[in-house]
Amino acid sequence: MPEAKVLVVYYSRTGTTRLLALAIAKMLSADLEAICDCSNRTGVAGYLRSLVDAISKRPVEIVPAGHDVAAYQLVVIGTPVWAGSVSAPVRSYLIENRARFAQVAFFCSFGGRGADQAMREMRELVGRPAVAECNVTAAEARKDANGALAVFAHVLKGHIARFKALAWMC
Ligand SMILES: Cc1cc2nc3c(=O)[nH]c(=O)nc-3n(C[C@H](O)[C@H](O)[C@H](O)COP(=O)(O)O)c2cc1C
Repeated sequence: MPEAKVLVVYYSRTGTTRLLALAIAKMLSADLEAICDCSNRTGVAGYLRSLVDAISKRPVEIVPAGHDVAAYQLVVIGTPVWAGSVSAPVRSYLIENRARFAQVAFFCSFGGRGADQAMREMRELVGRPAVAECNVTAAEARKDANGALAVFAHVLKGHIARFKALAWMC
């Protein structure tokens, strides 16, 4: 039976979303890619720049993707929530790749507000529903997000299994 290829892609300014991405990639035996942008987002100035980029909803320059999303049956994309929105680098990534995704799933880390809105924005940017979504607070991500991530991975594995069965029949 053919293997379904899965890619986990994320942006993380301070490492929280990265923790989730690493765990999800491990659970799914997926390839992993960090989105790198060309802005300095460190410190107070970087925070304010990120806030302005999120509120203005304009794409920012990112380093070209290292993995070709068209080679993957499922791309799992993670973002921190910025001002109730998807982060600017992930916005750019979704816009640049939206025509080439097969199926997508989303996850985010957030302080406590705006995750649903950010997920909705991600769906709108790619123009399709996600196979599954997972919102994890930063506190949970840093303490113990294994339960939430295990449920998310379980749903995705079920989806991958159905895809493999379909591919086998074709
Ligand atoms: C510019 C900016 C805006 C943010 N806005 C929100 C927000 O609207 N709602 C929220 O719950 N958290 C917000 N946060 C907090 C981050 O979503 C949260 O700390 C996240 O886990 C950071 O992920 P990272 O470490 O991967 O960058 C914001 C953080 C930044 C830097």
